[in-house]
Amino acid sequence: MMRVLVTGATGFIGSRLIPELLAQGVQVRALTRNAARYDAAVGAEVVQGDILDRASLSAALKGVEAAYYFVHSMSKDARGTGLSFEERDRIGAQNFVDAAGEQGVQRIVYLGGLGDENDALSKHLLSRMEVGRVLASGAPALTTLRAALIIGAGGSSFEMLRYLTDRLPVMIAPKWLETRSQPIAVRDCLKYLAGCLFEDRTRGRAFDIGGPDIVTYRQLIGTYAQLRGLKRFIIGVPVLTPRLSSYWINLVTPVSAELARPLVDGLKNEMFCHDQTILDLIPFDRTPIREAIRLALLEPSPKRISA
Ligand SMILES: NC(=O)c1ccc[n+]([C@@H]2O[C@H](COP(=O)([O-])OP(=O)(O)OC[C@H]3O[C@@H](n4cnc5c(N)ncnc54)[C@H](OP(=O)(O)O)[C@@H]3O)[C@@H](O)[C@H]2O)c1
Repeated sequence: MMRVLVTGATGFIGSRLIPELLAQGVQVRALTRNAARYDAAVGAEVVQGDILDRASLSAALKGVEAAYYFVHSMSKDARGTGLSFEERDRIGAQNFVDAAGEQGVQRIVYLGGLGDENDALSKHLLSRMEVGRVLASGAPALTTLRAALIIGAGGSSFEMLRYLTDRLPVMIAPKWLETRSQPIAVRDCLKYLAGCLFEDRTRGRAFDIGGPDIVTYRQLIGTYAQLRGLKRFIIGVPVLTPRLSSYWINLVTPVSAELARPLVDGLKNEMFCHDQTILDLIPFDRTPIREAIRLALLEPSPKRISA
């Protein structure tokens, strides 16, 4: 039986992937910074670890064949390092790949962000790419999946969309409203993540993953409002700083300001799949955007999201 470590095990993606892997007969070890809070009923072995604490990673990675990397540091600086989120992400990824190499881990699967490197990317997207490069520099073969917004209850970007649209009959938004993106349903994202563990041709490669639709954020808000039976008016304004938007999001949605800031910053960047190779390697009927939102609305929304 294959043994796999899932980092970010309490997060939006990790917490959903773990039951999928267990159902497919994979032995899962779940990594979290606070093991006491982890729900043992899930059926995974739990291990406490922090990407900024190298020793904790060696213990967590011992005896695993593959590891999923779902950590980002766009949250409070819990250890009080005084470092920026990009620095913490870089150091954490280096610790992780070094420890994984030492422990003989064969593969790492990383979920990063879509975005064109020739574009003026936000700090968040640049940092996600840097993490991908650091993880690729070690001994284990890296598979990178790059996604835009992932649609599902509990996803930070989806919850911003949900709360802003639910609560504001009139929305003031800057020009990122017309930015195009290729969101993906969380269930499709999980199929790719679990699928690449069993598809050897994904070793050592990077893939763009997305749903079948490319939409602007204005269309996304419109589809969401329509499904909820809400009439919404969006007023475009030429400028609205990411800092101001993040304070506003902190007030209106469950997403904390420190997490909202880099995410809002990234809304200016177009995010769609340039490479379609994954469609042949892990084929299935992808979920249309409307259906993805409908499914997300069937699930309860979390009270607070701060990672
Ligand atoms: N959500 C989206 O729409 C989206 C879109 C594209 C790509 N992605 C990518 O998908 C990946 C997972 O995102 P997500 O939405 O699942 O994130 P999330 O819900 O915010 O979860 C992040 C996880 O990181 C863990 N973490 C934070 N700092 C850590 C540290 N120092 N050491 C160890 N663990 C730490 C936290 O676990 P504990 O608090 O339990 O330690 C948390 O569960 C990220 O790489 C993200 O860039 C997400």
